[in-house]
Amino acid sequence: FGKGPLSGRHLLVTSGPTHEPIDPVRVIANRSSGRQGHAIAQAAAGAGAKVTLVSGPVALPDPQGVQVVKVETAREMLAAVEAALPADAAVFAAAVADWRVAEEASQKIKKGAAGLPTLSFVENPDILATISRAAGRRPRLVVGFAAETSDVVANAAAKRMAKGCDWILANDVSAAAGVFGGEANTIHMISEAGVETWPRMDKAEAARQLIDRIAKQLGPVAP
Ligand code: C5P
Repeated sequence: FGKGPLSGRHLLVTSGPTHEPIDPVRVIANRSSGRQGHAIAQAAAGAGAKVTLVSGPVALPDPQGVQVVKVETAREMLAAVEAALPADAAVFAAAVADWRVAEEASQKIKKGAAGLPTLSFVENPDILATISRAAGRRPRLVVGFAAETSDVVANAAAKRMAKGCDWILANDVSAAAGVFGGEANTIHMISEAGVETWPRMDKAEAARQLIDRIAKQLGPVAP
């Protein structure tokens, strides 16, 4: 453990996209860069926490002083998260694919003869909802993200109830906001106490702000 307000705490963070295989060379992915999740892991380590970062495929360096577990799929991410428990707090910043291809082809699907391929999907596990409802193993504080393109606060508040997490950090990812892959974020923090809108700030600053709030919520570690 390092020194700081989260000294003696274990924080679990998910980050990045997931990749869901179609065949050995093709995947379904999404546009998450992992910047916000990685910044949160970095800020938590800076605040003295022991940090486990479960990350999908990203083009970012591993944050310093953080245990990084690399995964590809949503199911691998859930397994890695479960293996990393117990944690005092968990922040789910990954953009998990909602669906995976029902049957991954064992060989590369060839162009041509068989015509166009048809994909059918099945639902992936919801990692945030699963851990929020994990009686006995639930971290004391569970934080989710909501990327919305309209009615940001209302949708995020509904999401908080649906998932069973404590806080939702919501942001507007409509094209106009330029959040995906960008450096800055306008965040609305939704908790039992209501909605708080943070000024627009870069992702590292937003991460420090969140870590500050988490440290306050958890309070000092009993000596
Ligand atoms: O339902 P939606 O994807 O908008 O919810 C976003 C929140 O839920 C994020 O915190 C994300 O990390 C988490 N999530 C998850 N597992 C999923 C889908 C979303 O942990 N399968």
